[in-house]
Amino acid sequence: MNLLLSKMQVIFDSLKHFQHSNPIEKISSRVKAPENIEKKLLNLGYEASPENARKYLTDIAGIRIICSYAKDIYHLADLIRSIPDIQVTIEKDYISSPKPSGYRSYHMIIEIPVYYSSKTEVVPVEVQLRTAAMDFWASLEHRVRYKYQEHIPKHLSDELVICADKIADLDKRMFLIHDIISLINQDT
Ligand code: GTP
Ligand code: MG
Repeated sequence: MNLLLSKMQVIFDSLKHFQHSNPIEKISSRVKAPENIEKKLLNLGYEASPENARKYLTDIAGIRIICSYAKDIYHLADLIRSIPDIQVTIEKDYISSPKPSGYRSYHMIIEIPVYYSSKTEVVPVEVQLRTAAMDFWASLEHRVRYKYQEHIPKHLSDELVICADKIADLDKRMFLIHDIISLINQDT
């Protein structure tokens, strides 16, 4: 996770020299807590063991990138794909195809070789790219989901879908304003 973070940081820092605005608002990372690794393996029907965690989970290490605009996400995904020595194995575009919950984000599973003293291991890292508005929605929805243990009452899940749609619309409209201002700035 740290290896990938530092590779990304170098690329993203170099972006600042070519663009007036920084497309990235925040980057965060986390390693899944052991009890959550155990829970996920049991949910998937596997015994909770280090071997099974290695074999079946690809999100033990995770990086989240928050962008200002949805359009930047695709640009950043292109940049991530171009990082040498890494392999993008899975990509899920929940922005153009949101989940039934309303969830929107761009997911990538990236495999990166890690050199230890006696061996090299290829380690997966889950990268989630989303806008600040999508992130706000996801953390609220996560709290609701946690509270109801997956059995969210219909009136709340319907309301969350409506909020997710409105947020996507707002993201588009604010990007338009940003685009107009950029065009005006180019002329002056
Ligand atoms: P996992 O079992 O967690 O891998 O879920 P999945 O395979 O159905 O979905 P995916 O791998 O595409 O997404 C995994 C991660 O995305 C989750 O751990 C969450 O961080 C996030 N995510 C996916 N769906 C939702 C959702 O409906 N709401 C929220 N708040 N987060 C979501
Ligand atoms: Mg998954």
